[in-house]
Amino acid sequence: MQPDPQRYTVTAALPYANGPVHIGHLAGVYLPADIYVRYLRAAGRDVKFICGSDEHGVPITIRAQKEGVTPQQVVDKYHAIIRDSFQDFGVSFDIYSRTSSKTHAEVASGFFRKLYEEGKFVEQVSQQYYDEKADQFLADRYIVGTCPNCGNENAYGDQCERCGSSLSPTELINPHSMLSGNQPVLRETKHWYLPLDQYEPWLREWIVEGHKQDWKTNVYGQCKSWIDQGLHPRAVTRDLDWGVPVPVAGAEGKVLYVWFDAPIGYISATKDLLPDTWETYWKDAGTKLVHFIGKDNIVFHCIIFPTMLKAHGDYILPDNVPANEFLNLEGDKISTSRNWAVWLHEYLQDFPGKADVLRYVLCANAPETKDNDFTWKDFQARNNNELVANLGNFVNRALVLTHKFFGGKVPVSAGFTPEDEEVLRQLSEFPKRVGELIENYRFRDALNELMNLTRLGNKYLADTEPWKLIKTDEARTATVLHVALQLAASLVTLLEPFLPTAASRLGEMLNTEKGTWQQAGRPDALPAGHQIKEAALLFDKIEDATVEAQVQKLLDTKKANELANAKAAPPKDDISFEEFQRLDLRVGTVVAAEKVAKTKKLLKLSVDVGLAEPRTIVSGIAEHFIPEALIGQQVQVLLNLAPREIKGIQSQGMLLMAENADGSLALMQPGHAVVPGSGVA
Ligand code: 2FM
Ligand code: ZN
Repeated sequence: MQPDPQRYTVTAALPYANGPVHIGHLAGVYLPADIYVRYLRAAGRDVKFICGSDEHGVPITIRAQKEGVTPQQVVDKYHAIIRDSFQDFGVSFDIYSRTSSKTHAEVASGFFRKLYEEGKFVEQVSQQYYDEKADQFLADRYIVGTCPNCGNENAYGDQCERCGSSLSPTELINPHSMLSGNQPVLRETKHWYLPLDQYEPWLREWIVEGHKQDWKTNVYGQCKSWIDQGLHPRAVTRDLDWGVPVPVAGAEGKVLYVWFDAPIGYISATKDLLPDTWETYWKDAGTKLVHFIGKDNIVFHCIIFPTMLKAHGDYILPDNVPANEFLNLEGDKISTSRNWAVWLHEYLQDFPGKADVLRYVLCANAPETKDNDFTWKDFQARNNNELVANLGNFVNRALVLTHKFFGGKVPVSAGFTPEDEEVLRQLSEFPKRVGELIENYRFRDALNELMNLTRLGNKYLADTEPWKLIKTDEARTATVLHVALQLAASLVTLLEPFLPTAASRLGEMLNTEKGTWQQAGRPDALPAGHQIKEAALLFDKIEDATVEAQVQKLLDTKKANELANAKAAPPKDDISFEEFQRLDLRVGTVVAAEKVAKTKKLLKLSVDVGLAEPRTIVSGIAEHFIPEALIGQQVQVLLNLAPREIKGIQSQGMLLMAENADGSLALMQPGHAVVPGSGVA
């Protein structure tokens, strides 16, 4: 067993301030980090929990361009939204900073300058795309062209989102600038590179040899594969006007690459938090540094940032980087651009006061070892079966019965039976077991283990039946509730990392404060005679209609996406003017409409087309229109379509419709009323 470190620096990936945060963020990064930190605090450890908004880089400038505002306006808006979401979900950062802060500019520049002055970078001139109209170099994301691998005409300079291949801008066929639409030209530009190749032997020793046992397999595997493929120098500067300016002469118009400045944001945020003592949290060997991230950030936190820290020389290295896999939503990848997400701020509008329920579901179903799926059905089931029926039920029964039979005072135990002793013995083992799982970053297992404590409590009450026992043996009933209340008291502390609001409400009801982790599990947390307060439900049932509304919201999103992405069908072969003239197109007015018996799709319409008799037209539109609503409507008709018999009715023409991408139909109507029989040409 390793001795406990003297202190911990725990970081959670700085989210880009270019959009709100969703359940994938919470499940993958911020919730596990928060559970870990809350546990460490309860265990009396010295820990600082660091985060903030990542406010530089192309993700921000692209969003600004899309919203038609400045990058500063983008980050101001989303920084506030993200910060509030984290707060509302109880993510207990010691600081939530931002990389546009003054401190950050100083720390990041100082970091770069030291490496520069010590000759740790390689300077290199290369050819990069330049937009002559916009008068600037183009970041990879600003160049669009045809993917050489799959022919997608909207591939980006760094990646084709259709076939997934990673690209470099010069591989694109017919590249053009997203800023001006012009074809960019290649121009020479100088940049500074971190020579990762020089650090390869060290990285191999540190990660491949040194962290095989303690890093998660997904993290270790990705690192090893990167190192095995051979590392190359990586540019740490960019030609961009948004970011920390490169602090050396001859670098005008250049900024630090966002992935160079962002992780330094952890350091500058710590400095903002602790202006005098921040260095202990980053430079003292007794500090354990842990980075919580999503899997798309692994290479930056395990290879590039550690190489930066190593090159700098003053800093400690991460002890662990517990990256999670991704969370999907109802079987589909979460996507900001497709609005396929459950946004945290929207969730709280729909489920006020239920932050803990989402924390619970996301932890119980966390994508720790593989991608996982969030579904509203599962959300409902876990709430109703686990939080309400298991945890809530146990706590509620213990409290309500204590009020009912003993006036809300913890009853005196009349001596423990072997069964009581066994329950208390099991209780005493929970803190260590749950704590060890948390320390090993196994949060799902830790939560499941904790729920075993409430299962134990429920079983104990079901076996002893204090609600019946009271009629025959008050002393024994007192003992049973005494024991049950000790379990409930431990939950105040043990639940807190996972469900902080529920834990604190339980603490209030039990009229007790949460204790240290080590104190939890004690058989005498609530002494006999201790007065508890009124019992209230910790959780309540979520009804079918509530989750169905959420599913409907997603279906609406899907439909909106389909419409937004709809592509018109390619044009048909040309026809001659004479061929067109053969079509007799008219405007008519519907005078009667009814369903065709025994069919689902057909309507029989009578349409006044200006002739002696109205035309009968059978049309397959019954699923789209109510017959009565059509009467009086003007429609377009192809009059000389050869008559056909449909379901025994002679149809004498065809109604023209516009078909939307989602399959819905619209009548083709003139802009204002015209005389029935008017020709269309
Ligand atoms: O992937 C992201 O959202 C990045 N903004 C994470 C940065 S983590 C750290 F380096 F700051
Ligand atoms: Zn492609």
